Amino acid sequence: MKIQSPPGMRDFYPEDMRLQNWLFDAWRRVSLAFGFNEYEGPIFEYLDLFTLKSGEGIVSELFTFQDRGQRNFAIRPEMTPTLARMVAARANALPRPIKWFSIPRMCRAEKPQRGRLREFFQWNIDVLGVEDPLADAEVIAVAVAFFREIGLGLDVVIHLNSRPVVSAALATIGIAPEENERAFELIDRHDRLSPGAFREMWDEVYGDRVSAANLTSFLAETPQETCLEMAQQAGPEGAAAAEQFQVLWQRLADFGVQDSCEFRLQTVRGLAYYTGSVFEAHARQGGLRALMGGGRYDNLTGLLDGPRVPGVGFGMGDAPVVELLRELNKLPRLDCELDVFVIDADSDLFSESLSLVDNLRRHNLRVDFSYKRIGVGKQFKQAAARGARYVIVMGEEFTKRQELTVKNLTTGEQQSIPVEQIRRDPKAALESI
Ligand code: HAM
Repeated sequence: MKIQSPPGMRDFYPEDMRLQNWLFDAWRRVSLAFGFNEYEGPIFEYLDLFTLKSGEGIVSELFTFQDRGQRNFAIRPEMTPTLARMVAARANALPRPIKWFSIPRMCRAEKPQRGRLREFFQWNIDVLGVEDPLADAEVIAVAVAFFREIGLGLDVVIHLNSRPVVSAALATIGIAPEENERAFELIDRHDRLSPGAFREMWDEVYGDRVSAANLTSFLAETPQETCLEMAQQAGPEGAAAAEQFQVLWQRLADFGVQDSCEFRLQTVRGLAYYTGSVFEAHARQGGLRALMGGGRYDNLTGLLDGPRVPGVGFGMGDAPVVELLRELNKLPRLDCELDVFVIDADSDLFSESLSLVDNLRRHNLRVDFSYKRIGVGKQFKQAAARGARYVIVMGEEFTKRQELTVKNLTTGEQQSIPVEQIRRDPKAALESI
């Protein structure tokens, strides 16, 4: 019986792992450059952690199970609840600001599609313990720095909004703040639903006050300044939100990333816990879903019975980033990295060859050799197929003069070098060619 991998799950063959490692290296490099510390959590949590505050959208996509003690668990569909739980548990001991990053593997029972899988990795960047929109701006700057780092700086735009600002704007067309949770969830799905399906779902709840068509044009056409004015006039909370948004906008300029950001009233995000800024990264061209999504969540630790610790951050999936790179023909060329391939020209010298291999490896070089005693030509072919940068041949010269032939496969140059010199400082010997 032939069994395939389940739908939406991936096998990572070595070439896939090379790409994965390249992506993770870039994520880690950028995180560290911005002063973030890495953390991890468990792959599954008590089901309650997610039902508590992630919102319907994610809860309907959970992979859940019971253990033998009848306890209910779910494989994590996102990291933010785990992060909030971890921070809440040590809220008073952790030095502020808490700037943490993680690259967790997670699962969602989604319908697999372009850039959306059932199992994926998601880079998480979060700052906790800071109310200042400076933190919101810095996490957005991290995302933009990453897109620039991998050559997507001009291909991606960050859509930016603020939930309290949308809330004030929606109030002007008859949607009360108490109704926001459901309204945000529907607006978030607007781009993914057919116009007919959206109309039906929206009109069923809010049609008596504002039709789906009017809502859509209101969201698309109201400019940033008008929305901020609406918020300013909506009372002290709205005024504070408008001011925070303006500070955020200025800080984005200070970080040199404002050019990559656009205000977009339709961007409200589907998760229930966001309380302030919300943002998403999208490809400027093509219909790929969001590459990154995040926002400010100031009440999440409080919901977990911890002290209130404000937070802001984002998640970015590996699958949509790789998908966009592929579409734009910008995937990196990643050859198998091998420093040296050692060739034995005479099988009597094989033990000597292995001893050289051992010596080179002890000097932290990446070294391989042929498992079979075959001709020199074939071994050269193997070296080239493995992407080796140098070949060292152990042959006649070794027997006669204790020398080895070293060839630089990139330049084609070759030279004889005393074996002692190679054994003593192989890196210097190789670099001399
Ligand atoms: P989210 O919008 O559910 O937010 O996901 C964020 C990103 O994760 C998406 O923009 C996408 O890149 C990636 N992603 C989501 N689902 C999939 C999937 N099925 N396959 C591949 N990639 C996917 C959150 O998860 C929030 N917890 C993010 C956050 C962190 N907010 C604050 N801090």
